[in-house]
Amino acid sequence: MDKVAILGASRGLGAELSVRAVTYADSVHLMARKVDLLSSLQQSFGEEFPDKQVLIQSADFSKEAGRDFALNALREYAPTKIFYVAGGGPYGLFKDKDWKDHKWSFEVSFVFAAQVLHMALQELEPRGLKQFVFVGSAIAENRPDPSAASYAASKHALAGLVKSVQAELPYFDLRLFSPGYMDTDLLPMNAWPRQMGEPLIDPVVAAEELWSWSMDERYRGDHYRFTTA
Ligand SMILES: NC(=O)c1ccc[n+]([C@@H]2O[C@H](COP(=O)([O-])OP(=O)(O)OC[C@H]3O[C@@H](n4cnc5c(N)ncnc54)[C@H](OP(=O)(O)O)[C@@H]3O)[C@@H](O)[C@H]2O)c1
Repeated sequence: MDKVAILGASRGLGAELSVRAVTYADSVHLMARKVDLLSSLQQSFGEEFPDKQVLIQSADFSKEAGRDFALNALREYAPTKIFYVAGGGPYGLFKDKDWKDHKWSFEVSFVFAAQVLHMALQELEPRGLKQFVFVGSAIAENRPDPSAASYAASKHALAGLVKSVQAELPYFDLRLFSPGYMDTDLLPMNAWPRQMGEPLIDPVVAAEELWSWSMDERYRGDHYRFTTA
């Protein structure tokens, strides 16, 4: 039985990915903060796929209580596949933004991602977890990203973590999917790619690519930079 957990499923890439997951898997477990968005996904999936289990849970990964709740929810659900999609950060000069906003970015985009992987390898892999996929960033994990310093730092850290654990555990299917700029809420209206008319990837297209790549055994333990606009 395929059981897919998506952390950061309410909007953007994660919501589009949940559409693919519920189409092909037996059960999905969707987490994010906004319960209204999660509920509307649950309702539409329930109508279209009445035989599938669609579990939703609201948790804030930037808060200790939300992280503990999400970890326990994953332990209970025992997924066969996990996608960690959540990420973000303040937009503007590093020095001008409040520390609490940088901290939020580090916690959601890296620290909790690392904690979920650690728990999953210790506790869920022995109980049937077959794959863990992180969403990185083709731009922010490789280069300076002015006005998104804490986000870029988190994505650099995430890529370093995933590549190191891939080398430590070659038998386990740990993957990193790193898209280019996408047309989602994460990219504010004043961000330079929008202002300069940079081609943006449709999150529907990115989600299709991410799902089909994740299902392809040839790419076990791989890193995919998806930059086609
Ligand atoms: N958009 C781009 O240009 C771009 C480019 C490269 C990589 N990426 C990466 O792609 C992934 C998806 O991004 P996106 O563009 O789809 O972003 P998005 O539209 O802003 O969606 C982010 C998702 O993460 C969840 N999330 C954010 N903060 C959270 C928190 N504190 N606790 C729990 N969930 C939280 C959000 O749900 P709630 O608000 O309901 O909590 C939402 O479901 C991210 O890892 C991002 O870094 C994006």
